[in-house]
Amino acid sequence: MAAPRRPRGTRDILPEEQPLWRHAVGRVDDACERFGYRRLTTPTFEAASLFLRGVGEGTELRDEQMYVFRDPGGEELALRAEGTAPFVRAYLELGMRVLPQPVKLYGIMEVFRFERPQAGRFREHRQWNVEAIGEADPALDAEVISLAWTTLQEMGLGRLSLQLNSIGDSACRPGYLQRLVEHYRGHVKEICPNCRRRLEINPLRVLDCKEAGCQAVIAGAPQSADYLCAACKEHFDRLRDFLSAMDLPFSQNHLLVRGLDYYTRTVFEIWVEGIGAQNALGGGGRYDGLAEQLGGPPTPGVGFGVGLDRVVLALQEQGLEVGQPPRPQVYLAHLGLQAATEAGRLALQLRRTGYRVEMAFGQRSLKAQLRAADRGGAAVTLILGEEESRRGTVVVRDMAASDQWELSREEVFAKLAEVLDGRGGG
Ligand code: HAM
Repeated sequence: MAAPRRPRGTRDILPEEQPLWRHAVGRVDDACERFGYRRLTTPTFEAASLFLRGVGEGTELRDEQMYVFRDPGGEELALRAEGTAPFVRAYLELGMRVLPQPVKLYGIMEVFRFERPQAGRFREHRQWNVEAIGEADPALDAEVISLAWTTLQEMGLGRLSLQLNSIGDSACRPGYLQRLVEHYRGHVKEICPNCRRRLEINPLRVLDCKEAGCQAVIAGAPQSADYLCAACKEHFDRLRDFLSAMDLPFSQNHLLVRGLDYYTRTVFEIWVEGIGAQNALGGGGRYDGLAEQLGGPPTPGVGFGVGLDRVVLALQEQGLEVGQPPRPQVYLAHLGLQAATEAGRLALQLRRTGYRVEMAFGQRSLKAQLRAADRGGAAVTLILGEEESRRGTVVVRDMAASDQWELSREEVFAKLAEVLDGRGGG
């Protein structure tokens, strides 16, 4: 029988990669604190209906990519397919409307989508999700966008670009969509079958098509920003003023429509060069109708998700060095059963004191143990031999200087401090 393997599209993130992850998440926590966002953790699975209602009909995410299952109790559940609907669900369910608004939240979460795996696209990925709920002011859109942009910069990333668009709201979007569909109907023979299908169920998404044959039709398509109602136009103008005043270098991209249905007005993405076709590090926007769609009162909101797997790929591609965890300071070598027991006790004592300690396992020759100590990079090796065990002493060996001293147990701690301090703590 073949050994079980990792499911397609999932990843093992190795110990060597963890420092970069820690760096990225560390910058996220730090920035969120300065911007006043508090952390929320929601379940890994939710009622399937949350996403079915939240992300919208005719989206790939809803129709093809969700991991839906029945639990043994017969309830229909789904693995978290995105972060916004769960955050809005929690906001409504936990009565956060009574808190000062907006409620500013963030999370670090696994997200599951049945996608065709490729570089930077996985079936399980990790997201930094940010939601600011309960306020329609474009200043909040600007704050959220500046949080995403600043944090990616503070991680050390360069070659970023900020793509911005407004897709209007329920007042003006229907008129725009009508013009868009009319334009496409005039070119129906030129467009791909997928776009013909989208035209029926989710016309905005035709602007997203990557097929060569559709590009000329896209180029001539009407642009949403030209069809905004007065309120949406005012909102977009104010947002651009804020971003300009913040020196955030945005490009207005009239093809940016995003893959989820809940967006109103602002949509944005942050792209990076150099990691291939999946170049969106993050994306988001405003979703003023989502709370109602989920059965709550009208509640505006704005947020984004940043894909941390892609962030780490970009950090690697840009050669960012964050250093590996420090090596052990002390290695415990021992000979004989009695000494091994003593070594276990001493290792715990030293670790409780604050030292990074490794010890040998099994019964190996002293030579082999010293080689292991050397390879591990310990500054000091403590040797508990059979003789020393009998005498109640320990040999302290300074690995770099090859000096060694036989000391009583009590003296060992002072000597360790002396040797390790001599090299800045090892
Ligand atoms: P999204 O654009 O679907 O938005 O995902 C956000 C980010 O997650 C993407 O820009 C990308 O970096 C990463 N991502 C998405 N799918 C994958 C994948 N299969 N593999 C690797 N990374 C991926 C949302 O999910 C919205 N909930 C964001 C949002 C929050 N909008 C408002 N608030």
